[in-house]
Amino acid sequence: MCGIVGYIGRDRAGSVMLDGLKRLEYRGYDSAGMAIMNGQGLETTRRTGRVAELEKALGNSPGGRLGISHTRWATHGDVTEENAHPHVSSDEKIAVVHNGVIENYLSMKKFLIEKGYTFQSETDTEALANLIAYHYAKEPEVAGKSRFLESVRKSLRHVEGAYGIAVICTDYPDELIGARKGSPLIVGIGKGENLIASDVNAITQCTQNVIYLNDGEVVHLQKEEFAITSASSKDVEAIIHQVDWDTSEAELGDFQHFMEKEIFEQPTALENGMRGRFSDDGSTAFFGGLNLSPRDLCNVDRILFIACGTAWHACLVAEYLIERYARIPVEVEYASEFRYRNAPLDKNTLVFAISQSGETIDTLAALREAKRKGYRTLSINNSVGSTIARECDGGIYQHAGPEIGVASTKAFTSQVMLAAMVALYLGRIRNLSFDQGTQIVEALKELPKQVREILGQSDHIASIAKKYAQAEDFLFLGRQLMFPIALEGALKLKEVSYIHAEGYPAAEMKHGPIALISPECPSVFLATSGGIFPKSLANMQEVKARKGPIICVASEDCDLPAEIIDDLIKVPESHDIVRPILMSIPVQLLSYYIALERGCDVDKPRNLAKSVTVE
Ligand code: G6P
Repeated sequence: MCGIVGYIGRDRAGSVMLDGLKRLEYRGYDSAGMAIMNGQGLETTRRTGRVAELEKALGNSPGGRLGISHTRWATHGDVTEENAHPHVSSDEKIAVVHNGVIENYLSMKKFLIEKGYTFQSETDTEALANLIAYHYAKEPEVAGKSRFLESVRKSLRHVEGAYGIAVICTDYPDELIGARKGSPLIVGIGKGENLIASDVNAITQCTQNVIYLNDGEVVHLQKEEFAITSASSKDVEAIIHQVDWDTSEAELGDFQHFMEKEIFEQPTALENGMRGRFSDDGSTAFFGGLNLSPRDLCNVDRILFIACGTAWHACLVAEYLIERYARIPVEVEYASEFRYRNAPLDKNTLVFAISQSGETIDTLAALREAKRKGYRTLSINNSVGSTIARECDGGIYQHAGPEIGVASTKAFTSQVMLAAMVALYLGRIRNLSFDQGTQIVEALKELPKQVREILGQSDHIASIAKKYAQAEDFLFLGRQLMFPIALEGALKLKEVSYIHAEGYPAAEMKHGPIALISPECPSVFLATSGGIFPKSLANMQEVKARKGPIICVASEDCDLPAEIIDDLIKVPESHDIVRPILMSIPVQLLSYYIALERGCDVDKPRNLAKSVTVE
């Protein structure tokens, strides 16, 4: 949430930051702003709306050797130019961009007003800018020390809440400071230039050398040097990581939207996620980074999955799969609920977080709470070096490539596939036979090809989307493993098309949502063959009897009476374990095409952000 880019170095601060902001826009797009030290002082430009508006306001190739910039997802205060970042202290010395929430900003503001500082905005960030200015004004000159750095450090000691910040000071045109607590911040080390950003994505056009800051750390950057200190002001020996992302992966290429690109990238994302993770005998999966031995895992009595949003739906699939194939009791909690609930957990509980970004604040906080209580923690995530990845005892990287579209697609199916592989792995060290294991491995290996087949039906799905695009309500219904996919289908549609949609277990429909059924409210049924199929069919009949249109996504071997289905999307027959992935593809495409029909901005849906780093 909120994107930050800071730059120090050559005479190209403005253009580098602008490029970075465009790559970070999925973190928030209410407004954007930039402050550049241009030789004559601080030049601040802010605009409401997209980064494109800021670009227009900045004009041709904004230069400068030092600057900070921001793309905002509003927390405190309306979407106005005054509330857009950077915020400048009332003495015009300090400029700050901030991601997070400063919880004690009101008392800070009161104190600062008494000291004569003035405020232009309703934001918490402006209080921090003025607080730094206040400490800076009082800070004595000490040879060999930066007054600026000392005043930032002092100010941060008074901050309650979460922050990722970048700060500049007009008296120090050769210094850039960053700090984090709770909100992500990385440092990019370039040649004759250094950067700060909230996400690796923003800086890969300049450097592949990255330092992941830890909570409480402050980085002091000059164009050729950097120094990191901990919360207790001790020097930190930084580890520089090499980012292996290819910048083109985060570009649109021939696609119209990132959501479309990422839906079509799923076969490759799945291949990358399973590569090198099957045993030589083809009967199980294994993961290099679990840091738990089979013996440790045999002692696990219960698994608790925690996540938010789409990743929470992946957890629900994991629950079905792990219980079914590994016979370990699983529970799924919203991370934000788990964190504040004093849940009694057995000491042999394993806490498993799923997070695409690895930065979602609620998931991170829940994980920390679990760690504090002494539970072992693992994660599935897509961002190498992210905070969750670093803080877990072990984990599994998705290798799905950067996901830019705000509505998660390839990250979700990749998480579900890895959950299936975890179920296989845990099952094989407990109760699954060699034959059962090889069948599952075969099914997983078939998956990318089957997903390609479904993607080949995109025109058919687009024509169905056209037919229903003007509906204002949708139901998504499925049983068992299809229930989480029904939830995900409803969420996807809601997110990108603003149509009200609800996901339900198909049988539960009779306990409420059936009241919504009408010729104007389509139901998307997710039906797979097997024991439960006749029950799903009965639910479809119930909808049809009330004249509700039915779009059915069904496995090829389902015997469906033509008269009750209005529109049918078939997916290849497969092993049960991969069905949630296959059935997800048509619902993603349906949402995408419906949103296009309605003229919605699919990659930047209103009010949403890709990475939610505030509670
Ligand atoms: C936001 C995104 C969702 C995502 C959720 C959790 O709401 O819009 O797409 O599922 O955060 O994010 P995470 O990075 O933890 O998977």
